[in-house]
Amino acid sequence: MTSQETAAHEPDALELGLPDPVRAPGLPEEVRIHEVGPRDGLQNESSLVPVEVKAEFIGRLAAVGLRTVEATSFVHPKWVPQLADAEELMPRLADLPERHPGLRLPVLVPNERGLDRALAHHATDIAVFASATETFARRNLNRSADEAMAMFRPVVTRATEAGVTVRGYLSMCFGDPWEGPVPVDQVVRYGVQLLEMGCTELSLGDTIGVATPGQVAALLAGFAKADVPVDRLAVHFHDTYGQALSNTLAALREGVTTVDASAGGLGGCPYAKSATGNLATEDLVWMLHGLGIRTGVDLRALVATSGWMAERLGRPSPSRTVQALLGTTRG
Ligand code: HMG
Ligand code: MG
Repeated sequence: MTSQETAAHEPDALELGLPDPVRAPGLPEEVRIHEVGPRDGLQNESSLVPVEVKAEFIGRLAAVGLRTVEATSFVHPKWVPQLADAEELMPRLADLPERHPGLRLPVLVPNERGLDRALAHHATDIAVFASATETFARRNLNRSADEAMAMFRPVVTRATEAGVTVRGYLSMCFGDPWEGPVPVDQVVRYGVQLLEMGCTELSLGDTIGVATPGQVAALLAGFAKADVPVDRLAVHFHDTYGQALSNTLAALREGVTTVDASAGGLGGCPYAKSATGNLATEDLVWMLHGLGIRTGVDLRALVATSGWMAERLGRPSPSRTVQALLGTTRG
């Protein structure tokens, strides 16, 4: 390279160092990231994303090292039109687990009709999604919270008999836009029901992003008191008030090692007033790698993928890490 070429070479943040790892006490060596961008992220987009773009997004997320990528939902197409193409998407993903050993591609399933559709498309991992509050159960599932539990029971039983792994989501674990603060006992009661019906993992959702770290520790203590092993719990934070990373660190300190996040910070929930994007996977990876915690994710490649997706969506990613790394690159 000539000196002129050197002078013309813009500093590229993606060529700069990633965080210098410094371990902190009381934290795990490794964290499993449950990537929800293609589902939780895209379910909330106002425009419909073409199925081939979704398939490429998921393929890229697998290629950067993510080993759990929630692909889509088999919900009623009128309730979530953004994911109405689940049947078209699944065959396009069929070769990914072979190309990326260990890759799981869970799909959301609310009822037996959804399970039939998921099984017909060879899903190996599904997730049911309950609510810790009455109002959200009615708005999201058209049922009371208890009726929703009754709807999930045969889904979990049949899926388990078919060798399919079932995750349970519980929404509104910290606050509900219609009901306000949600008591810990109420959350623990519904969470335990999901585990007892056969869900292997329980993801605790701060659907509207109102939690703060003390609440996270208190809820996890509530589950510990109910004898739920912490390795069966995951956390699912939305970043409405900028608390998602602090809440994640609080959860890691309590022993949680599975964290949900969304590439580029895409997301929200079409049936939850004020739900904004999820914790951005890049922001999470930056913090985890900075703490010397392994994720298996290539951060630079992930940022490039979210930059690519942001172009497809026609707006910049809300992830601070994506902005910092790509913003510098573009000068
Ligand atoms: P419903 O209207 O009560 O359904 O909706 P139904 O059981 O009365 O059935 C009515 C018709 O819908 C029937 O057809 C069914 O076959 C059909 P008909 O006989 O009238 O011709 N139907 C379906 N069709 C296709 N696929 C299905 C299906 N189910 C019924 N699966 C239902 C109840 C649960 C289906 C509806 O409320 C629904 O689809 N809700 C999904 C809402 C959703 O996806 N929300 C976003 C995901 S949750 C979330 O984002 C939170 C999370 O990220 C964690 C967090 O942040 O907290 C997970
Ligand atoms: Mg969510």
